[in-house]
Amino acid sequence: MIHAIKGMNDLLDEDALIYEKIIKTSEEVAKTYGYSYIEVPHLEVTPLFKRSVGESSDIVGKEMYEFLDKGGDSVCLRPEGTAGVVRAFIERKMDKAGVVKRWFYHGSMFRYEKPQRGRYREFHQFGLECFNIASVYEDASVIMILARIFEKLDIAYTLKINSLGSPECLQNYRAALRDYLTKVESNSDFKFCEDCAKRRLTNVIRVLDCKNDNCSKHLVNAPKLSEFLDDESRADFAKLQEILKDNGISFVIDERLVRGLDYYSKTAFEFESSEIGAKAAIAGGGRYDYLVEYLGGAKSYGVGFAMGVERVMDILKSKKLEQKPQNTYFCVLDTELLELAYKLVDDLRKAGKIINLSYDAKKLIKHLNTADKQNYKYFIAIGSDEASKNEVFFKDLESGEQKSIKYEVLKEIL
Ligand code: HAM
Repeated sequence: MIHAIKGMNDLLDEDALIYEKIIKTSEEVAKTYGYSYIEVPHLEVTPLFKRSVGESSDIVGKEMYEFLDKGGDSVCLRPEGTAGVVRAFIERKMDKAGVVKRWFYHGSMFRYEKPQRGRYREFHQFGLECFNIASVYEDASVIMILARIFEKLDIAYTLKINSLGSPECLQNYRAALRDYLTKVESNSDFKFCEDCAKRRLTNVIRVLDCKNDNCSKHLVNAPKLSEFLDDESRADFAKLQEILKDNGISFVIDERLVRGLDYYSKTAFEFESSEIGAKAAIAGGGRYDYLVEYLGGAKSYGVGFAMGVERVMDILKSKKLEQKPQNTYFCVLDTELLELAYKLVDDLRKAGKIINLSYDAKKLIKHLNTADKQNYKYFIAIGSDEASKNEVFFKDLESGEQKSIKYEVLKEIL
């Protein structure tokens, strides 16, 4: 038997319904904030991700599905959505024209991670990106979009926020952090873990992310990012907090929140949920005012987020969605009535009615049993008696009411 690849899952039945519900809810909320749909390719040239996500990130370092295509070009399955959307923005010269754009997207992302609950090799994100708005009100809006989505889906969360400042602030902070790590090691026998050692060489702020308890303990007195913020970043961060408070969004400031991708500046945030075992990020994002330029475009502001759909699905699955009954089960009692039924059903479908037509001719009671088991709302059968009078047998499976009705009335009843 051929199996699906490890960490890549089918999506069907109840899971598919939950998936649809999450995407529909997210789209509806994003649209109210002026965001519209964009679709970008799943496969892009490798340098796009190396440059944007950053060589020092785990994604680029260990997790990319990168290969040479038949033409010998290095291509990569997208590990995240932002880079492709930025590329599309630049390619249409919207950067040079200074266009304001708000886009949302959803679909598969690919990361070669160790598969476990909530962590897959192919997973789905719902994300959005806003270009050319410098105002911190937009940072607040993207956070509020997520808060509203989770509220509509009835999901409890903790929102963590931080400010990474400008690239200059970060550069000064990196130097201070490096000095601190060296001092800790030279004043004791303690050595930071192997991952930290690597991060010190590539992007030292990722040390703050280390999950190793010993490293964490030795970081308690590390210099704080907030002490390195310039006036503008400090003012924006204060304003962001004010807007969130004024709009009833609770948050905690997490000075160690640096995010796993290298393109952020100023606002960084994550939504965590404890409803899927250990606290896990169900969404994350922030501002990236230098990424468009870094990818060869003209200076353009950017801010956005991505939500992990499988992680949200896991939470909703544990709550059990109410199963809405399917619409109509339509059937015939004699084979020769199938053509007539087929035409009637097609007419109803043209009018937008959702019908499942059974192609088997069998006894009424057998059809009724099938329809009951599959949780239908309405049941319609045609036997030769009904057909001779241009009627069908109709039963409302929820109320139990049953009667014969004329073909013409069907559209009104269903
Ligand atoms: P990210 O934090 O790498 O950000 O991913 C966003 C979310 O995707 C995570 O919070 C998590 O819920 C989900 N996720 C990540 N990896 C996996 C996985 N292996 N399996 C299941 N779910 C996963 C980004 O991707 C940025 N592009 C977000 C962004 C948009 N920033 C600005 N604009």
